[in-house]
Order: sequence, then structure tokens, then C-alpha cells
Amino acid sequence: MKNEDNFLVIVTGASRGIGHSILKNLSEMIPFSNPVGIVRGTEFSAILGVQYEIMDLRFPENAEEVMERIFSFISPAIEKAVLINCAGVLTPLTRVTDTAVNELQTTFNVNYHSPVALTAAFLKKTRTEIFKERTVINITSGAARHPYSGWNAYCSTKSALDMFTRVAAMENDDGKTVITAVAPGIVETHMQQQIRSSDSAVFPEKEKFIKLHHNNMLRHPDDVSTQILTLLRDDEFQTGMILDLRDLIAN
Ligand SMILES: NC(=O)c1ccc[n+]([C@@H]2O[C@H](COP(=O)([O-])OP(=O)(O)OC[C@H]3O[C@@H](n4cnc5c(N)ncnc54)[C@H](OP(=O)(O)O)[C@@H]3O)[C@@H](O)[C@H]2O)c1
Repeated sequence: MKNEDNFLVIVTGASRGIGHSILKNLSEMIPFSNPVGIVRGTEFSAILGVQYEIMDLRFPENAEEVMERIFSFISPAIEKAVLINCAGVLTPLTRVTDTAVNELQTTFNVNYHSPVALTAAFLKKTRTEIFKERTVINITSGAARHPYSGWNAYCSTKSALDMFTRVAAMENDDGKTVITAVAPGIVETHMQQQIRSSDSAVFPEKEKFIKLHHNNMLRHPDDVSTQILTLLRDDEFQTGMILDLRDLIAN
């Protein structure tokens, strides 16, 4: 992605946390981009210059319609498109035997079915020759590979998202498509607050997260978003890869 390129960047989870930070830093990191934020309602602090579309990700069946709307207003000059599936939920934080199936379905809809449906709709809208490059970044988690007691819903959905990323990348190995998953590390957002206030009888590792917070070991969302946008700008993402940003910091 060169700075002079005019391209579309669609981000879910745009209301707060990492998604909000990506949109906030986008114009400075990648000028001339056309930002679109997907939010579920109107109660959030909007960023000037960002176009917002409403989609409640508990209802993945609306993905096609949302993509249709987004692509109906973009400039015909746009040749490059990016979708960042950033929205996610941690809940329910319950033991397997206490989890209601409908709660599990909600988590799967937000963390898995909606990213899958949005990716599919995005790939269909960008398959014409007009689009020279297209990138999908699925925000995953270390919890996709590491089991935590009480986190069945979250771990399983992120694990499914990782495998979806690999399959979709394999199916779209056409030289113009990058589909990747990125784990951001431990980031100080609403999600971490939920972790710290969870029930330690259900989630015994809670103390570890409280200690990390106490010792200022959490990443700031702006550090994470800047790192993701730098990788995007510099064409560093490789299709089919599951990347943990912490590995890059360590190297
Ligand atoms: N923070 C961490 O330590 C960490 C670690 C690993 C991975 N991640 C991943 O990073 C991503 C961003 O999380 P975050 O840390 O920024 O958490 P966050 O501050 O809790 O933000 C979550 C975002 O998802 C949106 N969302 C949730 N349910 C939705 C729904 N039904 N429809 C539409 N949007 C919905 C929220 O919108 P509302 O404001 O409307 O609720 C919010 O914008 C997630 O995929 C998460 O799994 C985070």
C-alpha cells in the first residue's frame, strides 16, 4: 500500500477500543484512505471524516446488505479495499456446564459468523478487475490457541476464526488477496476491564491479568492500531498467516 493510493478501509468494532483507535489513526498513517466504521448503534464518539454504517453483529444475515450499502457510495477511483474484522465479545464467562446455548450462539454470531459473512460479502464485492488489491484482517487472540477456564465461548470462536482465515486464504490465492489474522496481545480496553472484574471461581487466572494491569504491562490501543496500520501500509501481511503482534515486539 503506497501513501498515494486511494483505498477503502472498513472496520468493525469502530465504537471503542482497538477498532476505534484504528480509525482514529488511519488518516495520519495512511493518507487518502476512505474510512468506514461499522457500529451497532449511535451511542459512541464519532471520528471526523469517518463514514459509519450500522450493523448489529449478532445478526450476520445482514452482512450482504451492509456491504452493498458501503460499496454503493465509494468513489469509482478506489482500487484497493481493506476489511478489518475487529469487533468481538468475551462473554459468556461461564463454565461449560453453566453456559446457555443461546449465549454461545450470540458469541459465535459476533465473533465468527459475522466476520465470516462480512468477509464473504466483501470478497464478492471486490472480485472484479477494478480492485487490484484487497485485504482482510481478522482480529484474533492468543486465546484461540491457549485454553482458559471459563472462556470456552471466546477461545472456541477465536480458534474457529483462525481456521476460517486459513481456509479463506487458501481459496483466494489469486495474487491480489491477503487474508490474515492478527492477535494484538493484552490491550487496555473494556474487554480487559471485564476480565479483571470476572468471577475468579470461574476464571482462576484472573489474578494474573490484575497483576499485569497493576504493573502497567498492558498495551495501549493506539500502540496496537499503529502497529497494525504500519504492517498494512508496508504490505507486510502475508495471506493465510496467523500473526501475534507480541512476537514482532520480541524480535
Ligand atoms: N483487549 C485485549 O486484551 C484483546 C486481546 C486479544 C484480542 N482482542 C480482540 O480485539 C478485538 C477488539 O476488542 P477490544 O479489546 O477493542 O474490546 P472492546 O473495547 O470491548 O471493543 C469491542 C468492540 O466490539 C463491538 N461489538 C461487540 N458486540 C457487537 C455487536 N453485537 N455488534 C456490533 N459491534 C459489537 C463493540 O461495540 P459496542 O461499543 O457497541 O459494544 C466494540 O466496538 C476483539 O476482537 C477482541 O477479541 C482484544
